[in-house]
Amino acid sequence: MSDLIDQLQATCAIADPRHAITLPAIAYCSAELYELEQTKVFRSGWQGVCRVEQIAEPGSYYSIDLLGRALVVTRDRDGELHVLSRICRHRRVEVVAGAGRASSLACPYHLWTYGLDGQLLGAPLMHEVPGFDKGEFRLPHVRHEVWHGFVFVNLDGTAEPLAPQLAKLEPYLENYDLDGYRSVDVSDWDCPWDWKIMVENFMECYHHIGPHRNTLEDEYPAAMSWIDKGDDLFSILHMSQDPKYGDQTPLLAGSSRLRPEQLREIIVFAIYPHFMVSLGAGFLTWMKVLPEGPGKMRLQLDIAMSGAALAEPDRENLQRRLVDATIAIYKEDVDVCAAAQRTANNDTGDGGAGDGGAGDGGAGDGGAGDGGAGDGVGRLALIEQSLWELYRYLGRQLGLVETGQSDPLCCDRPRRS
Ligand code: FES
Ligand SMILES: [Fe+2]
Repeated sequence: MSDLIDQLQATCAIADPRHAITLPAIAYCSAELYELEQTKVFRSGWQGVCRVEQIAEPGSYYSIDLLGRALVVTRDRDGELHVLSRICRHRRVEVVAGAGRASSLACPYHLWTYGLDGQLLGAPLMHEVPGFDKGEFRLPHVRHEVWHGFVFVNLDGTAEPLAPQLAKLEPYLENYDLDGYRSVDVSDWDCPWDWKIMVENFMECYHHIGPHRNTLEDEYPAAMSWIDKGDDLFSILHMSQDPKYGDQTPLLAGSSRLRPEQLREIIVFAIYPHFMVSLGAGFLTWMKVLPEGPGKMRLQLDIAMSGAALAEPDRENLQRRLVDATIAIYKEDVDVCAAAQRTANNDTGDGGAGDGGAGDGGAGDGGAGDGGAGDGVGRLALIEQSLWELYRYLGRQLGLVETGQSDPLCCDRPRRS
């Protein structure tokens, strides 16, 4: 374990993003690290579970399994939103599954019935039991917060409030009318790779020149992407449209308040640990990561359209084109993510790839060049700065980097005004 921590520290402690190196292979497949991540990253952090429109009406419910917790998001009769455990307080059967509408949640086993606020309303024959008090057997609440229409939960109840930690993200989102976007397609994917590989893939455009060379690269070239100033809990990057596309209006209409430059870019942000969004004038793609173990996760890919795009007369056609294109691009990432995980699994046994790539003297603080932790780690391009920001976040959560020490710099790339 201390060897693993030393190896992580070599990456996470690098304070200058221009000298950033990758994580060691073991970081993607270590059961010990996953154990630590469960407590120090996932349960203590904020995780997006659904959009408010998925529980729009009083009586709506939406079930989700998150890190072994069976939860249900509900909207009660008064319109108030709750996140509850959906495990019956009698003998632990799930009281509800899936999503839908109901006036109460009745366990299928012995029909204990709960209100949508979690109160136990009825328990057949339990009045015969001395001292039984319905008030003591409610479905427990899980802490939640709604941010721009996304419902987030904090499983261990210890996280700082979410919105204030995202205050510096707000200026990037203004004009989009983010709350007006509505989900139009959700798909589920089994992913044989670690949650960190998913975040890394999503948060850089460098790979547009690889798997997306025939799709995204032409309109949103890797070399024109740039990293903006993030904060402790989020990173943000801009996918700038190639000027050869001129002032052509986007396929999907967005808010009339968007500035001209906002019509010619897609912004991509991650709220750590793994809530990821790409946001364009008329669409929003949200990646909901559900970690399942070291090196494996499930993904829900949620595609939404802006209020303006939903009002277009040929909405169905636009929706189909958006969904098809988004899923096609996601599929282009599948092979590289799986390949990165496979190599990580193979690399951990023999001390790494050992090609000396990270030991060329550029890592600055000696972390990558000492012949130990440096085995098999690579160097990051400047347009991959978000990965460094992820590693700094990870380092802070694991106690490897002092809190308050992080001061993300913007890499010096050309950007469109
Ligand atoms: S297990 Fe739910 S009522 Fe018995
Ligand atoms: Fe990609």
